[in-house]
Amino acid sequence: MAKLRENEQKTLLALERLSGRGPVDQLVNVSGLAHAAVMRAALSLTTKKLVRTHERKQTAIALTKEGSYHAKKGLPERRLINSLIKLGGEASVDDVVEEAELEKKFLTIALGWLSRKGWVTIKKKERELSFNPTMRADLLGIDEKLLSLLAEKGSLIVEDLSQELQKAVSLLKKRRLVKVSKKTLRELELTDAGWDLAKKGIEIVEEVSQLTPDLIRTGRWRKAKLRRFDVTAPGPIIHPGKIHPAQQIIQRVREIFLEMGFAEIRGSIVETAFWNFDALFQPQDHPAREMMDTFYLAQPRKGKLPEKDVVDAVAKTHEDGWITGSRGWEYNWSPDEAKRLIMRTHTTAVTIRYLAEHKEPPVKVFSVDRVYRNEKLDYQHLAEFYQIEGIVMDKKVTLRDLMGTLKEFYLKLGLKKVQFWPSYFPYTEPSMQSTVYVPELKTWVELCGMGIFRPEVLAPLGIKYPVLAWGGGLERLIILKLGVEDIRLLYKNDLGWIRRTPVCQR
Ligand code: PHE
Repeated sequence: MAKLRENEQKTLLALERLSGRGPVDQLVNVSGLAHAAVMRAALSLTTKKLVRTHERKQTAIALTKEGSYHAKKGLPERRLINSLIKLGGEASVDDVVEEAELEKKFLTIALGWLSRKGWVTIKKKERELSFNPTMRADLLGIDEKLLSLLAEKGSLIVEDLSQELQKAVSLLKKRRLVKVSKKTLRELELTDAGWDLAKKGIEIVEEVSQLTPDLIRTGRWRKAKLRRFDVTAPGPIIHPGKIHPAQQIIQRVREIFLEMGFAEIRGSIVETAFWNFDALFQPQDHPAREMMDTFYLAQPRKGKLPEKDVVDAVAKTHEDGWITGSRGWEYNWSPDEAKRLIMRTHTTAVTIRYLAEHKEPPVKVFSVDRVYRNEKLDYQHLAEFYQIEGIVMDKKVTLRDLMGTLKEFYLKLGLKKVQFWPSYFPYTEPSMQSTVYVPELKTWVELCGMGIFRPEVLAPLGIKYPVLAWGGGLERLIILKLGVEDIRLLYKNDLGWIRRTPVCQR
């Protein structure tokens, strides 16, 4: 007789009792073994050619929350038709709804189905319903039959249903009253060799799968039959905890700046328009300042401006250029507009505030933080997103230093090809935009805006040395590196995607 382990023997005998074939769940019941134990036994019995495994795909359905609600109360159209009949077969929509105590959110659906099922004629203008006696609304539809069957059984296997009920499945699925899940049904079947062995009668010897202190102390371990472990058998997939892929890249960006000798700064998320716009020489009628683009706080509406000297200098600079040699924007600067509180739209608000308090060179700081814009969400836009931002102030820094710094930064992120383009920002001159080549996608992608702060920005703050500045969205870079197409995936907590993404992102 072939040597079988205890669980294999039990599984074999259970199969014999089920006349040679049965689904795993049933074998679990009959054998008294755990599900995993039956599965393991099935695997080794299959390699010994004593059983065959059959797999069948099944579609299971169950009620959604709305589905269970309608199962209890009746479909909305059923509730309306019952009430209509109660009211004599002809009544206004309002009366029927009141009689049925139908929730407002179901009304459109209910009316739609009433007419689709032909139970009533609806006079749109008068909002009147009249019962259509030819349609036998008194008979339960297949959708209703399926609904109550599901309510009774909890879940059903679509493949086991009659053809008629299967049609109802797609009806209810479209109405989002049922949810569908795919299942695999595993069945085991004895082979001829398996039958022979089972019939000969197998004697079950106790097997020990764990060496307990008791077995050792009593010396029984000497006689016990130790279960062999198949260390090559597939085990369950384990999903260890890990840092979110986007956070890993954000951490890496921080590390890179630190490696390059920058210090991290952070600032307030709620900021005055003064620091977000005015101090950056962005005129008060600039389109970016409109509500359509910027979130303004409703409460409190206004914040504090800095000391008078700075405010006056900024005002003058906007109005006529002050001592900067510029003509300014030639309008009346309003302190009230500058006091308005907003959600910062870029982290340049953080670096400029820092500069105002650190006027002596050298300054080399960065920030990686969230900013807010009134954007319509889609696959490439978020209303709350990350920006990376940096400034370098020193006695003799130039545009070359700026390009070199960015090149180095990108290189450390694995992006080797960088191009710089002329661009425009109200606060820098010259201004540039950088694009990097992403080999995986074979395309160039725009990343950071940058430039050297204009005198109109520096003079009011009393800064005497050149300041290199750059900033840009981070999510674009993250999705490129992760190969994600929809930016929203980063914040959806899609466990499947998070699990599939490698533990380590560099
Ligand atoms: N603040 C700009 C943006 O949000 C980027 C930028 C920062 C440009 C610093 C120039 C200098 O796009």
